[in-house]
Amino acid sequence: MAEVVIVESPEAAGALVATEIVELIDSRSDAVLGLATGSTPLPVYQALRAKLAGRDVSQVRGFALDEYVGIDPSHPESYRSVITREVVEPLGLDPERIHVPNGAEATIQHAGEDYEAAIEAAGGVDLQILGIGTDGHIGFNEPGSSFASRTRVKTLTEQTREDNARFFDSIDDVPMHCITQGLGTILRARHLVLLAFGEGKADAVAAAVEGPLTALLPGSAIQLHPHATIVVDEAAASRLQLADYYRYTFANKPAWQGI
Ligand code: GLP
Repeated sequence: MAEVVIVESPEAAGALVATEIVELIDSRSDAVLGLATGSTPLPVYQALRAKLAGRDVSQVRGFALDEYVGIDPSHPESYRSVITREVVEPLGLDPERIHVPNGAEATIQHAGEDYEAAIEAAGGVDLQILGIGTDGHIGFNEPGSSFASRTRVKTLTEQTREDNARFFDSIDDVPMHCITQGLGTILRARHLVLLAFGEGKADAVAAAVEGPLTALLPGSAIQLHPHATIVVDEAAASRLQLADYYRYTFANKPAWQGI
């Protein structure tokens, strides 16, 4: 079972996850982080700014989950730009060590394989940060994605395009296709940390954590992982049947055990 940690605010979640990441980097200076975009991981990156200040992060490596296809990497809403702006620059990471799937149309046919090879060459992802879409997608693995899927091109659902339209001038500017790590790729990371905040994510979180394993709810794949941590605020936890048990378990957790 995934460990569910219910916190009082996104800031508290950010601090908790950032502490885990700092410990990881302290134990391994070239740790491989799995980076996610979207608004949800921002408190983690925010907390990391303070916690990593003064540490040598020059060896830290990273792999983003996904990218739009056909978007210019210099577009402010390409995930390459977002990762650069929200993670690489503020944390002082080496841009050469931070990878984002290549969404260029000219090379898209082998971009998935190339990305898988790069992750493998790095020895795999140590800690993968995840958000979750309102339809239960993780990365850009929309409903119907195979649990064994690898990095590949997907067609975004209308729902996801509508959800992400706020970052663009209009929904027509939101790309139709993306390249995303597969569910099988994500499941190979050594530790999954899925964050979700707000009422709008409550159904997706409950279905992912406590519902049946189903391709209809790609986030349910986390149930297959031996070390998955779900960090949610009260609103996002509001539909979890076992919320009291999760609180009890976390409150009684041995101090030596991280998340
Ligand atoms: C996008 C990203 C996902 C992210 C999701 C939720 O679709 N590809 O990785 O989890 O949005 O975004 P937010 O965190 O802004 O709710």
